[in-house]
Amino acid sequence: MNNGNRIIVALDFDDRGAAEALVARLGDACGHYKVGLELLTSAGPGLVRELRDRGHEVFLDLKLFEIPDSVAGAVRAAGALGVSMVTVHAMGGTGILTAAVEAAREFPRLRVLALTVVTSMTGSDLADVGIAAASTEEQVLRLARLAVAAGCDGVIASPREVGALRAALGPEPLIVTPGVTLPGAAEGGHARAGTPGAAFGAGASHIVVGRSVTRAADPVAALGRVRAGI
Ligand code: C5P
Repeated sequence: MNNGNRIIVALDFDDRGAAEALVARLGDACGHYKVGLELLTSAGPGLVRELRDRGHEVFLDLKLFEIPDSVAGAVRAAGALGVSMVTVHAMGGTGILTAAVEAAREFPRLRVLALTVVTSMTGSDLADVGIAAASTEEQVLRLARLAVAAGCDGVIASPREVGALRAALGPEPLIVTPGVTLPGAAEGGHARAGTPGAAFGAGASHIVVGRSVTRAADPVAALGRVRAGI
């Protein structure tokens, strides 16, 4: 993976035209985009092919949590689209994680990343759904170890857990970190936010930046501020 592509811009839009306009505006400033369920559902896979045809890497954030056969099928479909990353929920357990990893084998450039605890969740949310972990960090570490043991290439985790994860997992696994905000900005719904510089400093391999760039009056300048801060 191109080292310049460690900042991933999340195309969280509900229509293809808005996403294409942002991609055109950023031009060479961004080489790696995240396409999530909102844009995939509204725009379809053609947009992913278009991004690939323009030479961009694509992180397809499918957040898979299904029976293993369905997960494997979705991972193969993502691989056929030429994406660089796809996500599966570690909460699905070893069977689902392994299905994703095995399905990705025929696509050498496709990395399988496991979601641990989504960044909007707090300890009380975990308790509400019956998870008795002492803290979100404990649950993140548990799921991350499970995912790496199942062969996943890395994990998604909030800035606050990156340091503990890097220490627990060692240097190899990818750690992709959403929930980053520019210094001084509002936290935008992230219960466990942090700055880009702090995330990379703690050991993140990639960060995902959304609204701080995509909703900025000048997205190129905003992305420049993200780069300058790392
Ligand atoms: O907040 P921002 O617009 O930067 O979000 C970028 C990405 O971070 C989103 O596409 C979403 O997947 C992820 N995110 C998250 N937890 C939140 C909010 C966003 O993981 N609370």
